[in-house]
Amino acid sequence: MVMPEMPSQAQMDLVKESAAALKPVAPQIAQLMYDKFWTMNPETKRLWSVDFTKMPKGGCPGNSVTLQAQVQSGVVFGFMTNIEHIDRLMADLKRVAQKHCSRNIDYSKYPLLGEALLDAVVEVTGGVDQSVLDAWRAGWTYLVDCLVHMETEIYKEMQEKENGFVGFKEFKVTSMEQIEICNVDDSDSDDGVDELEKEIATIVSFQPLDGAALPAYDKNQYTCLKLVSDKLGGATHRNYYLYGASDEKTFRLSLSKMDRSLVTAHVLDEMRVGDTAYLSAPFGNYLLMETLGE
Ligand code: HEM
Repeated sequence: MVMPEMPSQAQMDLVKESAAALKPVAPQIAQLMYDKFWTMNPETKRLWSVDFTKMPKGGCPGNSVTLQAQVQSGVVFGFMTNIEHIDRLMADLKRVAQKHCSRNIDYSKYPLLGEALLDAVVEVTGGVDQSVLDAWRAGWTYLVDCLVHMETEIYKEMQEKENGFVGFKEFKVTSMEQIEICNVDDSDSDDGVDELEKEIATIVSFQPLDGAALPAYDKNQYTCLKLVSDKLGGATHRNYYLYGASDEKTFRLSLSKMDRSLVTAHVLDEMRVGDTAYLSAPFGNYLLMETLGE
């Protein structure tokens, strides 16, 4: 596989300087980039969790950004300011690549998001020199090449894995069981003693409709649950850690009413044993957005 090629030194210097200067408005640039991209490519918007593309409650009009824009701008501007030392960013890039693979993101959209980013940079700054714009384009191409390189490797590993599959498979719910779980709450323990909080979780078990065996997973790996329902306004995605030990037959998710996301609420309130949904193969080992909350 061809390794990603770095931009020229002059372009790296320009994009580093420009990204550092624009860092304070990076989330606003990312938000504008997504607004432009989703307007031009409306069919892609439902790939993102609805909860992460909603404006936060209480945000100021014109100055409010979604969780997706906050997190994405951190990665993009971190990449551009460290473009000569991307080894520092490997953990972030791998996390993004794994999540993209769990959603089966189409590579052909990456340059389109880049064009939306360039338009957003021009709009927020009121215009930049052509050389700066060209440097951003070269930086974006390098970022995309790095992600595509990683994602291709991840897909290849998945395809070579026993029972591995890429994309989404149709599953049916085989059981929904309520259990009591204990969470450690260390948020306000003045005495240094953590408190145990009890909560009811529903363990939802899914088995593939085609009866095929499932790939094994490790602790902390996740799957993407895709629901297609008129009540949800179409397809809706959310990633969840896989619960319990891997057994080739079943994927289990632990869902709690404390997680007020649209997908979790729909599963708990509307779905029953025998209903169907789509799941991806197990990917990654760390979910950022889900832990940051809605
Ligand atoms: C090539 C440049 C891109 C970068 C740097 C990037 C960056 C990111 C980041 C930082 C996340 C959050 C990862 C996390 O939750 O830990 C993310 C998630 C995601 N990205 Fe990208 N992305 C890029 C392109 C795209 C494109 C072109 C699409 C779709 C057409 C896309 C679709 C998604 C989706 C659906 C998620 C999951 C969001 C969720 O959890 O709901 N990304 N990306």
